[in-house]
Amino acid sequence: MKGKILVTGGTGYIGSHTVVELQNAGYEVVIIDNLSNSDKNVLDGIERITGIRPAFVEADCTDMKALRNLFETHKGINGIINFAASKAVGESVQKPLLYYRNNLNTLVNLLELMPEFGTKGIVFSSSCTVYGEPDENPVTEKAPIKKATSPYGNTKQISEEIITDYVTSGAPIKSVILRYFNPVGAHPSAEIGELPNGVPQNLIPFLTQTAIGIRKELSVFGNDYNTPDGSCIRDFINVVDLAKAHVTAMERMLEDKSDDKVEIFNLGTGVGLSVLQLINAFESATGVKVPHKIVGRRAGDIEKVWANPEKANKVLGWTATTPIEDTMRSAWNWQKRLRERGIM
Ligand code: UD1
Repeated sequence: MKGKILVTGGTGYIGSHTVVELQNAGYEVVIIDNLSNSDKNVLDGIERITGIRPAFVEADCTDMKALRNLFETHKGINGIINFAASKAVGESVQKPLLYYRNNLNTLVNLLELMPEFGTKGIVFSSSCTVYGEPDENPVTEKAPIKKATSPYGNTKQISEEIITDYVTSGAPIKSVILRYFNPVGAHPSAEIGELPNGVPQNLIPFLTQTAIGIRKELSVFGNDYNTPDGSCIRDFINVVDLAKAHVTAMERMLEDKSDDKVEIFNLGTGVGLSVLQLINAFESATGVKVPHKIVGRRAGDIEKVWANPEKANKVLGWTATTPIEDTMRSAWNWQKRLRERGIM
């Protein structure tokens, strides 16, 4: 075993894919998840892919007592990957305190316990949302942080500051902050994928649910942006590629490959695709038509943002390699699997 890793939010979308890659790389994994936006049977999917069932604790990371208990029961946790957080931008505007409590208390609790239990490093899930509407694309890690437009985005900015302040204070820990662009797709085995509660807010789950007939039509939010086809541009990154970056980041911390105690990396492909281009990519990759119509802009949307991932490419030795067509097929195969299983 290479080490023991606590994955908070490990039954969620990005968390579950990362658990698979950690186990494939030889790490022992302990998951903590309150199942607020995921299901316990994700563990079956992970086990079917890797042949290993990770240890699982059903608890909330804002519950310090439960968290301490976990560290005492599962002795020797070397590193943490913190996915446990609420992530719906719109909901965060309606329920700001829920977001501040969930996202910030979770992080503070974990940081507080790390020195006590000798846990060396924490990988934190941040987001390109910290750049707001960037002045130029592609965006490097040096681009200015813009005032957050939602409590969700603000929790990501504040979390990055909390980590930096704590490390600067001399705390005996290291951290890698990963700023994700738009993670999409599913594991190629179709054993795990994205499963949002209720009506999806994000593009790909809404698109695949429309393609399979659960939703009548996909609304494209705006075609009057200052982009070649008028729809917004994003950097859509394959979720398995993204998951692999976490393994590399963890190795880097645990093996002291860097002298810096906090490092920040953009995780994206470096290619911007518009919403309409993405729909086309899905249709040509799967041969399935997606009924869609243009509607008005969605409040708070960024016009265009894509990553300059060179720092991650060079320093982590990591690159997003999966072609978008393969990613779209993986999302579609996952949607069909959900139908086969009678889930959706
Ligand atoms: C946002 C946040 C991101 C956060 C993510 C999680 C920004 C820049 N990004 O991503 O930090 O982690 O939410 O929820 O704030 N779209 C449609 N129709 C739909 C759904 C989406 O046209 O039904 C369009 C959106 O207008 C947008 C693009 O698709 O242009 C991507 O939207 P979405 O998947 O919701 O992600 P972001 O808003 O980019």
